[in-house]
Amino acid sequence: MMGCGVYESLVWVSIILSLLCLCSGFSPADKYFIDCGSPVNTTVGDRVFVADSFVSNLLSTPENILENTSPNSIPSSEGSRLYQTARIFSGVSSYTFPISQRGRHWIRLYFFPSVYGNYNLRSGNFSVSAQNYVLLSNFIPSDASVKEFSINVTSNSLVITFTPSINSVAFLNALEVVSVPDTLVTDDAALVSPSGKFQGLLTQALETVARVNMGGPTVVSGNDTLSRTWVPDQTFLVQRNLATNASNIGAVKYPKGGATADIAPPSVYGTCTEMNSQGDPNSIFNVSWEFKVDPGFQYFVRFHFCDIVSASPNQLYFNVYIDSWNVAPNFDLSSLTLSILATAYYMDFVTAANAKSTLRISIGPSSLSSSGSPNAILNGLEIMKMNNSRGSLSGVDFVVPPHSTTKKNVGMIVGLSIGVFVAVVLAAILFLMCRRRKLARLGHSKTWVPFSINGGTSLTMGSKYSSGTTLSGGSDLGYRFPFAAVTEATNNFDESWVIGIGGFGKVYKGVLNNDGTKVAAKRGNPRSQQGLAEFRTEIEMLSQFRHRHLVSLIGYCDEKNEMILIYEYMENGTLKGHLYGSGQPSLSWKERLEICIGSARGLHYLHTGYSKAVIHRDVKSANILLDENLMAKVADFGLSKTGPEIDQTHVSTAVKGSFGYLDPEYFRRQQLTEKSDVYSFGVVLFEVLCARPVIDPSLPREMVNLAEWAMKWQMRGQLDQIIDSTLVGKIKPDSLRKFGETAEKCLAEFGVDRPSMGDVLWNLEYALQLQEAVLHNDPEENSANVIGALSPLINNFNPVDTTASAAQFEASNVDDLSGVSMSRVFSQLVKSEGR
Ligand SMILES: *[C@@H]1O[C@H](CO)[C@@H](O)[C@H](O)[C@H]1NC(C)=O
Ligand SMILES: *[C@@H]1O[C@H](CO)[C@@H](O)[C@H](O)[C@H]1NC(C)=O
Ligand SMILES: *[C@@H]1O[C@H](CO)[C@@H](O)[C@H](O)[C@H]1NC(C)=O
Ligand SMILES: *[C@@H]1O[C@H](CO)[C@@H](O)[C@H](O)[C@H]1NC(C)=O
Ligand SMILES: *[C@@H]1O[C@H](CO)[C@@H](O)[C@H](O)[C@H]1NC(C)=O
Ligand SMILES: *[C@@H]1O[C@H](CO)[C@@H](O)[C@H](O)[C@H]1NC(C)=O
Ligand SMILES: *[C@@H]1O[C@H](CO)[C@@H](O)[C@H](O)[C@H]1NC(C)=O
Repeated sequence: MMGCGVYESLVWVSIILSLLCLCSGFSPADKYFIDCGSPVNTTVGDRVFVADSFVSNLLSTPENILENTSPNSIPSSEGSRLYQTARIFSGVSSYTFPISQRGRHWIRLYFFPSVYGNYNLRSGNFSVSAQNYVLLSNFIPSDASVKEFSINVTSNSLVITFTPSINSVAFLNALEVVSVPDTLVTDDAALVSPSGKFQGLLTQALETVARVNMGGPTVVSGNDTLSRTWVPDQTFLVQRNLATNASNIGAVKYPKGGATADIAPPSVYGTCTEMNSQGDPNSIFNVSWEFKVDPGFQYFVRFHFCDIVSASPNQLYFNVYIDSWNVAPNFDLSSLTLSILATAYYMDFVTAANAKSTLRISIGPSSLSSSGSPNAILNGLEIMKMNNSRGSLSGVDFVVPPHSTTKKNVGMIVGLSIGVFVAVVLAAILFLMCRRRKLARLGHSKTWVPFSINGGTSLTMGSKYSSGTTLSGGSDLGYRFPFAAVTEATNNFDESWVIGIGGFGKVYKGVLNNDGTKVAAKRGNPRSQQGLAEFRTEIEMLSQFRHRHLVSLIGYCDEKNEMILIYEYMENGTLKGHLYGSGQPSLSWKERLEICIGSARGLHYLHTGYSKAVIHRDVKSANILLDENLMAKVADFGLSKTGPEIDQTHVSTAVKGSFGYLDPEYFRRQQLTEKSDVYSFGVVLFEVLCARPVIDPSLPREMVNLAEWAMKWQMRGQLDQIIDSTLVGKIKPDSLRKFGETAEKCLAEFGVDRPSMGDVLWNLEYALQLQEAVLHNDPEENSANVIGALSPLINNFNPVDTTASAAQFEASNVDDLSGVSMSRVFSQLVKSEGR
């Protein structure tokens, strides 16, 4: 009975309290304000940021480093006094906040990069995570800034972890953790493209990108019930002269069951930016604002409207755009606000992730606006970045390192604490440790793409991405594309854009919508396990290897179970397509040799250019692609393996590769070496020479297998009998002989007898020289001499036209000179010149 009475009175108290709260606005259940590094409390507006020492019990950090900076360096702003002091984290450090009411909370992080004591924090580079979300990664604050996030806290404590990057420190000037009213962000919003409904906002972590008071001045946090800061729109306007402003703060009304002052204060609803029509009834233009965003993320966009410009209802009709999407055609505020002018109204949208680094918001007249001059208004705007599918708000994946720094502080915390408090803190530490373990595990299973994306912040990735072609050649790695961007680039996987079909799936032509870069998008069958392994291999391989003669990976997409690889577009398709069966004009011998040389370079690089040899395993003419200048690039690394490690595993690995190209030794003994690629390449050489399929069942039995058949003729010294008819009479016999010998050696029965790819490359260069030598001289007169001089040199190079050759080698990339063969060529060149 007694308990019941107490309970009832508690209920009454809470009802009365909640009624009070209703009258006096939102009162947060949880609120923490910390002035990091500060010995004294700092008051900003009505918030007291407590001195650092009051909250040291919430913090676990390897060292207590509290510093301050020169006050003169601090820009003046509402909370500038908070920038005076900072706490510096030399190792992984965490705040653990007990949470009394689960649900959405603001996390506001204050940073002022400057010199504090012995620390130059301008180069501070660190990551911040909260709950399971990555808020910032490899972040380097550039200006005094407040980073505002909001997340739905789903347990009794909130852990915020700071992780300095290698050789760096993390720091913080001030911190807020404050409850957000449940009604501020609800679960759903309208989806922009394709238009529809978005559900799931409750679990989203959001980062404020922009919060704008249209047509009005800054609204400081002290004048906002939720301590938000609203900035003026001037700097975002694309053409300032097209816009003007209006203000009538006193008129703002909040409707029942709609917008409240917590959604946005009257000072926001009471001012607007509108079309500067100057009474011209024919005004047709948009007022647009542009905001910097990180590509690849979805954004939550909230519009605030309040008709403070019309003299009577139903006068104002306009269109509202997000990028090119008309999200509210013929928007009619009156019909949504019971025709009561100056009623606050807001609407929410979620954009598709796209590849652009700007988000454009526009308002413009609708064709319905009849009387008077057309107008369009906007009173407020909020743009928030949404976490990606990996729970990150930052472009780079980041996992909290498993080592914990909590131990060091346990003694101190226990010493300081008493009674219940000990329990709370211990629980928090336990939670923290469990969570770390869980995170580490999670990280392992989630980051299955076994490379980390280079280059720090998502911004730099954005710029790499937008410049499109800079990815090839450097050590940069592929970019993770949003599915929507791929859909857009390939015209929604238009079947008429298919440029190839393989075991893995279809290959589509595509155009990146930001800069028109042509790409090839290979879309795998989502359900194939085999495909998944190959997908991973290909990303791994192409991310490690960058070479002029290897196809560059521009990016990939693994959203929604998709496996899409995006490559540079190769204008001229496959080598195979140029040899037979497609009706394309046939290639000259020189072109063919250059293509063989290029692909040999690519393979040579694969075999030798890295600490571990990489075996391609699927060398064939369909995997050699040609760019607009017919430069060859080796593609399709899905089956590749690295060398040394396979000794243990190769036996169990099923024999893979393409029929007709397969190394018989590998087939028999399942022994995989670089020489298997050399064998397949030998088959390609014959294919190039004879321009026929490697297996052609329609032919008489002895001709079916090109490798066998060509070898027969090569042994007889009559290879010229079976060459591509379009080449007859155009190949210099010595060039053909060298080429034939090279192919023959590649097809040796045993791997040990086959040349290395470097030797093959060198021999092909030589075959080209033999062909070219004739072209540079009068064939009638000189060829006999020239060839006579060259013939005895089987493995030495003696170029006839040294200047031309030197120029040619200079033009070909010096990075190819790592190979023995090329340095041999080079030393020969030098010798010849010395003569
Ligand atoms: C600072 O704030 C803390 C926590 O609110 C309070 O306990 C303390 O008395 C304040 N100190 C001063 C000097 O105002
Ligand atoms: C927080 O998330 C839980 C489910 O994860 C949901 O039930 C709850 O409504 C959310 N709260 C808020 C305020 O978003
Ligand atoms: C920040 O740290 C990360 C991880 O150590 C590193 O990759 C990145 O290059 C650093 N950024 C800068 C600008 O130094
Ligand atoms: C409103 O417009 C006037 C003139 O067009 C301009 O001077 C003023 O800065 C604007 N005010 C705001 C807050 O944008
Ligand atoms: C808050 O708004 C009132 C008027 O609405 C203004 O007088 C006051 O200066 C504002 N406060 C701040 C800190 O700007
Ligand atoms: C306004 O912007 C939208 C979206 O970019 C565009 O489709 C429309 O043509 C623009 N209207 C005018 C009048 O420029
Ligand atoms: C954001 O993270 C939550 C929880 O981790 C996840 O459910 C949600 O799908 C993520 N959002 C997006 C857009 O991927």
